[in-house]
Amino acid sequence: MPLDFKVPIFDVKNVNFSAASQHILSNVSLEIFNGEYIAIIGPNGGGKTTLARILLGLTQPTSGEIKLYGKKLKAFKNWEKIGYVPQRASHVDENFPATVEDIVKMGMTSKHSFFSILSKEEKQLIEDSMLKMDVLDLKEKMVGKLSGGQRQRAMIARALASKPEILILDEPNTGVDMVSQKRFYALLRKLNQEENITILFITHDVGVIADDISRLFTVNQKITICNSPKETLSCDEMSALYGIETHSIHQHKHHEH
Ligand SMILES: Nc1ncnc2c1ncn2[C@@H]1O[C@H](COP(=O)(O)OP(=O)(O)OP(=O)(O)O)[C@@H](O)[C@H]1O
Ligand SMILES: [Mg+2]
Repeated sequence: MPLDFKVPIFDVKNVNFSAASQHILSNVSLEIFNGEYIAIIGPNGGGKTTLARILLGLTQPTSGEIKLYGKKLKAFKNWEKIGYVPQRASHVDENFPATVEDIVKMGMTSKHSFFSILSKEEKQLIEDSMLKMDVLDLKEKMVGKLSGGQRQRAMIARALASKPEILILDEPNTGVDMVSQKRFYALLRKLNQEENITILFITHDVGVIADDISRLFTVNQKITICNSPKETLSCDEMSALYGIETHSIHQHKHHEH
C-alpha cells in the first residue's frame, strides 16, 4: 500500500503536558501519515493514554501545537474520520442492555438516535463493520455476555461504523488469550493493508505485531521514534529499557558484549 507523504493525518509539535506540577509529556513531536501502522509502547504511567487523549482533543496540552489533516485541532470537525477505542472500553456491565448489533449501530454517527430507522446503506455499513471484525455471527448476543476477545472485536466494529480513516486503539488486549489475540492482530493487519486504515496501536505486545507495523513509538514522558522496528538496534535497547517482550524483533540482534 503506497503511503501518502503529503499532509500528515496528525502533526504534533513540541507538546507538553503537566498535571499536579508533574511533567507527564515533555516536548513530544510526531507525524502520522496515511496508511501507517504505528505501535506505541512504554511503561505504565509513561503517558501513552494521555498522548492519545491529547491527539483526540480530549485532554488539553499545557503547550504545543497539534494539527489534524493540516488543520489546527480546534478547527477540526471531521471527527468521524478518527475511530477511538479507549483503554477500558471493553469492560461493560454483564447486564448492559444492548446487543452487538446495537452497539455497532451506536458507532455509526451521532446523526442518528438509537431508535431511528436505518437506510439500506446504513444497514449494510453495520453488517460490513461486524463482518470485518468477525462478529457478525454474534450480532444478536448481549454485549455483557461476550468473552473478552469477542467484546474487543465488537468495540472495534463499533469504531468502524463511522468509516474512520484512522483507528486509535488503547491496549485492547488485557485479559485476552493468545489465540484470540493473534486472530485479532490478523484482523488489524487486514484493516491496515486491505482497507488502508491507518492504525495507532498502544500495546505491550509489540513482539507479536513487529512484522505488521511500520513504525514504533516509545513513550516515557519523552517520545522515541523508531522507523524500522524490526532491524534497529536502538529498538532492542529501548525494548530492554522498558521491559517489553521482543523475541520476534530480535532478528538482527548483535551478540557481542
Ligand atoms: N489529568 C490528569 N491529572 C493528573 N495526572 C494525570 C492526568 N492524566 C494523566 N495523569 C498522570 O499521567 C501519567 C501518565 O498516565 P497515562 O495514563 O497516560 O499512562 P499510560 O502510559 O497510558 O499507562 P498504562 O500503560 O498504565 O496505561 C500517570 O502518572 C497519570 O497518573
Ligand atoms: Mg494507558
